[in-house]
Amino acid sequence: MGKQRVLSGVQPTGTLHLGNYLGAIRNWVEAQSQYENYFFIADLHAITVPHDPEHLADQTYSLAALYLACGLDLNHTTIFVQSHISAHTELAWLLNCITPLNWLERMIQFKEKALKQGENVNIGLLDYPVLQAADILLYQADLVPVGEDQKQHLELTRDIAARLNFQYGQQDQPILKLPEPLIRPEGARIMSLTDGTNKMSKSDPSEQSRINLLDTPDQIHNKIKRCKTDPVRGLSFDDPQRPECHNLLTLYLLMSGKTKAAVTQECADMGWGQFKPLLTEVMIEDLRPIQERYTELMTHPRDLQAVLKKGRDQAAAIATTTLTTVKDVLGYARPL
Ligand code: TYM
Repeated sequence: MGKQRVLSGVQPTGTLHLGNYLGAIRNWVEAQSQYENYFFIADLHAITVPHDPEHLADQTYSLAALYLACGLDLNHTTIFVQSHISAHTELAWLLNCITPLNWLERMIQFKEKALKQGENVNIGLLDYPVLQAADILLYQADLVPVGEDQKQHLELTRDIAARLNFQYGQQDQPILKLPEPLIRPEGARIMSLTDGTNKMSKSDPSEQSRINLLDTPDQIHNKIKRCKTDPVRGLSFDDPQRPECHNLLTLYLLMSGKTKAAVTQECADMGWGQFKPLLTEVMIEDLRPIQERYTELMTHPRDLQAVLKKGRDQAAAIATTTLTTVKDVLGYARPL
């Protein structure tokens, strides 16, 4: 039996933060040798909120460099840009026509982001999860490693695939594979540094709320120094009254590579004054090699472009096959 196929993506908006890294990319890297992997830059998704055309291309290359800097290995992984493969938008259109509107209206991310856009909510924001379903279903992915916030979109993807299979397929021969989300218990929801009840997010107006992968040691030092804590002495996981404490210990656990039991024991009698420098040090050291590799990769833009071109060729072959199958079952005339 061949390897299972894994697919996931990140939007090239803002800089990547620890939530993106610990909730998604680091898990892709760790498991990549077990799977056949496709990781892409979700640039079509990036324009569902206001964006700056001056920066979109640069942010796309920067994200590709970060993927590689974090350790994605081209021997196991194909990296490509979503907008380079037009099958994504084409399948999204076909899926639009079988997706009930009220499935999209109940998406939590839509409701949250629509609130921010006020009167100017664009259709792309509503339709975003159908494009995401197309991203995944085109590759007949088995597994989709993501953070907790994407769970609902994954469920919708499965529902859309099941509906297409039911309406146009044979019972024993599904057209589209139903993917499974891969959400690790630890790191699936990294919280803001200024409010432990909100997730760390690129769109939070406060820079203090997140650690970016490309933050300098000084920035990391200052953010941790000023991050929200509580007046209790002794640090512990899982106390619902202490969300910041749980979040900071989780960051320490993930970035030090220690077990939960070891961190629990190590920090049980600590105060914040002792813990914060420890966490700062671990973060700086964990991110240092990524930042060094990133700087090196960004000095060779041609090499980066070549990686994305090869990725596009490999991914497009699979995407086109699935798209053709779907068009066939929907009854489209094939071009001669
Ligand atoms: P995006 O760009 O918002 O986030 C990329 C990945 O980071 C995870 N993540 C987090 N994990 C833990 N804690 C956090 N605070 C945190 N913030 C973000 C996200 O869950 C995600 O895994 N719609 C997707 C991109 C996308 C996609 C796809 C993903 C488009 N098509 C197909 C998988 C498959 C998004 O906006 O991710």
